Amino acid sequence: MNKKLLVGAGVAFTLLFNPFSQASAGELSVGERKQMDNVAHRGASGYAPENTIAAFDLAVDMKADYIEIDVQRSKDGELVLIHDTTVNRTTNGTGNVRDLTFEQLRSLDAGSWFGEEFAGERLPTFEEILDRYRGKVGILIELKAPELYPGIEKQVAQALKERNMDKPKNNKIIIQSFNFESMKISNELLPRVPIGVLTSNRAHTTAEALEEFSTYADWFNPSYGIVTEELVNQVHSLGMKMGSWTARSQEAVDFLFEMGVDAIITDYPDYVDPRK
Ligand code: G3P
Ligand code: CA
Repeated sequence: MNKKLLVGAGVAFTLLFNPFSQASAGELSVGERKQMDNVAHRGASGYAPENTIAAFDLAVDMKADYIEIDVQRSKDGELVLIHDTTVNRTTNGTGNVRDLTFEQLRSLDAGSWFGEEFAGERLPTFEEILDRYRGKVGILIELKAPELYPGIEKQVAQALKERNMDKPKNNKIIIQSFNFESMKISNELLPRVPIGVLTSNRAHTTAEALEEFSTYADWFNPSYGIVTEELVNQVHSLGMKMGSWTARSQEAVDFLFEMGVDAIITDYPDYVDPRK
């Protein structure tokens, strides 16, 4: 299936039926803001320890549209959620994620570093997150450093297929990575799941680079420091959407609203929609 055509049709539909589409960036209403996806980065990680059930549950309570998760793999092959490639910063342990067994990883306290009230939070598994949140909130799945985990794309695809979550209808699943080769593989394995490329590198914003991304990606997701209105327009003209990160202040969120991105990836979902 031609993903670009599908996305293009979606953009055209939105423009046709969005009553706010004629408004300029400076005239955004709260109603219009609802058109943008509110993505809780590592969960509502401004308020609870990142990549834990506490942070994801809070994001759901705050009515985020998506939770963003970072997927890596234990020494014995279990997919787990953690951002860094070591456990040092966000747990009471030390070492590389890939050198620790699932039992070792699961025994770590992933909450106390953030606040004593979160003591006992555990590293979630990828599969338990799929089961817990499917149908409740979208899931933006980042393959973190997939070059360290050969075959992780297939493992992720398998978990989604087993649950029938590889079909677009109502599942709100997106897969993204800074590793573009990994995203090409994921696109082959999961042709109906939207794919995103992550970058903070301006070299990836040339017309040539964007054109190449659009052959397999549905989302171009840059850090907000390199976002311009022109870049948003270029990305849209290629049939891709844009989600930008990581908005950690109201000013950053407001900037991204004005730029017209499609999703705001934030530690503070309440900054994106204060009513939530
Ligand atoms: O979703 C975008 C963002 O998560 C990419 O950066 O380092 O927070 O994984 P990072
Ligand atoms: Ca991430």
